Amino acid sequence: MDAEEYLAKARTYYHKVGRENFWKLIDDFYENLRHDPLLRDMYPDDLEPAKERLFLFVIQYFGGPQTYAEQRGHPKLKVRHAPFPITDEARKHWIGHMSDAILKNPMDDECKEFIMGYFDHTARFLMNR
Ligand code: HEM
Repeated sequence: MDAEEYLAKARTYYHKVGRENFWKLIDDFYENLRHDPLLRDMYPDDLEPAKERLFLFVIQYFGGPQTYAEQRGHPKLKVRHAPFPITDEARKHWIGHMSDAILKNPMDDECKEFIMGYFDHTARFLMNR
């Protein structure tokens, strides 16, 4: 699968997983993050707006509405993460919380595998220290 085919496939998951289950995923992820001192200190005091940003980004990536782009423009993820120390340790914590949230999500196993693969890949790409 080349990059274009991968992206076309990725865009089918909003429909397969549904908005509700994506919201549950991001909500559960932030619940895990809230109790993790290593990551918690990087995030703003009020986690709700940050949760909304990640949710809107993720549903857009997986083929949902373009609300993230309307509100935030181009994601520029590498640039937007540059102020935060994304070490291998931070990446493992982040992925651990996302993986827990995915495992308990009602989406089917094929969706879990694809979505986890995407987060895993992107988290490695974002490492900057
Ligand atoms: C590897 C570990 C990661 C760490 C430590 C990390 C940390 C952070 C922090 C501290 C913020 C700022 C919170 C805010 O105010 O919005 C942020 C924002 C964000 N992160 Fe991450 N992140 C990680 C991985 C990822 C991954 C894998 C994705 C996407 C798949 C992602 C997507 C985003 C998005 C979309 C935003 C909001 C950007 C904006 O519009 O300002 N992050 N991240």
